[in-house]
Amino acid sequence: MTHIQAGIWGIGAAIPERILTNQELETMVETSDAWIRSRTGIQERRIAAREHAASDLALEAAERALEDAAVSAGELDMIIVATITPDMAFPATACIVQDRLGASKASAFDLSAGCSGFVYALDVGANLVATGRARILVIGVDLLSRVTDYSDRSTCVLFGDGAAAAVLGPVGEGYGVVAAELGADGSGGDFLKLPAGGSRRPASHDTVKAGEHYLHMAGNEVFKFAVRIMGDSTTRVLKKAGLSPEAIRWFVPHQANIRIINASAQRLGIPDEKLYVNVQRYGNTSAASIGLALAELSDAGHLSEGDYVLIVGFGAGLTWGSMVIRWGRGES
Ligand code: COA
Repeated sequence: MTHIQAGIWGIGAAIPERILTNQELETMVETSDAWIRSRTGIQERRIAAREHAASDLALEAAERALEDAAVSAGELDMIIVATITPDMAFPATACIVQDRLGASKASAFDLSAGCSGFVYALDVGANLVATGRARILVIGVDLLSRVTDYSDRSTCVLFGDGAAAAVLGPVGEGYGVVAAELGADGSGGDFLKLPAGGSRRPASHDTVKAGEHYLHMAGNEVFKFAVRIMGDSTTRVLKKAGLSPEAIRWFVPHQANIRIINASAQRLGIPDEKLYVNVQRYGNTSAASIGLALAELSDAGHLSEGDYVLIVGFGAGLTWGSMVIRWGRGES
């Protein structure tokens, strides 16, 4: 089989209008703007309107990505939605998006890899483009506000809602996905989980009363894992790509906490001007985070044809993923 190189044809994001500031959180839990800024770097985050679900934000991001790629919904072969906050357990949010877009030719499924979801979905999609599925829509969307306990100060300051989408298609030799590195360590699953609502602990009065439909996290454990894996995975993907860190124009890490980002960047010797950070404005938007950062870079005109971009994420699972992408379509 001839190998088809896969790349990003277009990208788009969607964020809710409603801003939740640190000052507002000060009125909700025992915290302070100073604590949140110094321990996380976050100043504000976005919260989806009450009537909106994952598919609403996903649809908006998808429409922008399709426009950016100059692809119509009817041309799509597949839709992959990375999310841990789907509209409901089933049908898949990807199927809801497929219907609302009118993507009648597309197969559709959800993928659960926590905050690594966007990188995971890009890798799955790129490999399917390589085998001949021409156009794949990848979406990362999460409304973690829906599973966050706003009386728990150790988690509620961290998360926000958002969506990002990318259209994948064939690109010229040397462009698109150059290398990817994914992994999982399920032994750390307890460090970040939503205990109830699945087949292990079906929803009941008791599970609701015990707060088991909220996200539970061992912050310190996740922190240590994140710093280690961001460094290790980045090093491995650069080696696979055969590139030195100097060749990379943009490092786009998962936006969870500025201290995790800075510690990893320092370990890898990445200078500030190559590091993209927007965690101060959105908090941790989970599966949307990396795509949202890429969409901002693209919208601002900071991504040029031929630029090497390195994305790296980690999240519930525990999972991680990194990828080197050479931006643009080349001569496809
Ligand atoms: N405001 C004020 N104090 C807070 C607080 C808040 N919002 N949240 C926690 N604290 C308190 C704790 O109760 C603790 O108090 P204690 O010492 O009296 O028990 C103290 O601050 C220090 O807590 P600690 O957990 O050591 O803080 P930290 O510096 O590790 O920061 C996190 C906590 C959650 C910010 C940090 O561990 C983190 O970012 N972890 C990774 C989380 C993540 O990225 N998750 C998503 C992965 S995709």
